[in-house]
Amino acid sequence: MNALNLMLVTIAVVAHVVSGYYGRYYDDNEENDQIVGGFKAKRGNYQFLAALLRDDESFCGGSLITPNHVLTAAHCVDYIKQADYASIKVLLNTTTIHPADDGAVHRGVKKIVHHRNYNSESSLNDIAIVTLDSPVVGITVISLPRIGTTFSYAGLWATIIGFGRTQKTLADEESSGRGSNKLLESSVKVITNSLCSDMYVDTRISSSMICAQADGTDTCQGDSGGPLIVHGTQIGIVSWGYGCADPKYAGVYTRLTFFYSWIRSNIL
Ligand SMILES: *[C@@H]1O[C@H](CO)[C@@H](O)[C@H](O)[C@H]1NC(C)=O
Repeated sequence: MNALNLMLVTIAVVAHVVSGYYGRYYDDNEENDQIVGGFKAKRGNYQFLAALLRDDESFCGGSLITPNHVLTAAHCVDYIKQADYASIKVLLNTTTIHPADDGAVHRGVKKIVHHRNYNSESSLNDIAIVTLDSPVVGITVISLPRIGTTFSYAGLWATIIGFGRTQKTLADEESSGRGSNKLLESSVKVITNSLCSDMYVDTRISSSMICAQADGTDTCQGDSGGPLIVHGTQIGIVSWGYGCADPKYAGVYTRLTFFYSWIRSNIL
């Protein structure tokens, strides 16, 4: 059975994040990855994908947007004080955490900036940039939307990738399970904000958010900060959602077209 078939018939994978820091994820059960997790990313395909590590464990994702900067979610890093930068590591160019692939790139953190109007209750402005302690040479950075783009992306399929949890969780269930030791990828379809607002009746879906969903697959705890990608361009950052792959609730992402100037002013 090829990967595509597997994806179509399996309750797949990855998925959202409801809030902050979700540590402790190892998945030493490879079979489990295969069954719940959709499919493993191939080496080399997502070199720009970053894992943010603390005590050698991945707690969030990110993406390399310049040789010196990793884009992530504010809720991944807003509580990290400068004195603790030394305990955070950034891992790139790898498809596993333990051990990392040969050729994996490790960096320390020089600076972390999150959006000053990030709000942990509304999840508004869930965006941050980590400046690396030295530039990464030889990895192609992920493209961002062109300036001025107001395209909604609704109806397009997007790629999600991450080392997060692999268990489907309904909104009213306690989230559980481990993160994945292997980089997993899947595809979700971008939906309109209006449809997304109909799902999240008790909270506001802002125009600075973008929602995506597909049967049995989603981002989940530990994937936060990672990219939502359409045709090689990152259009979103994994932010939040109720449950993971709950058919009633799409995954919610920070909409990058909304943050063009914030990103630009923070990578100069
Ligand atoms: C990334 O990893 C590949 C092996 O998967 C390696 O050949 C390549 O040199 C690595 N890139 C960098 C910049 O280290």
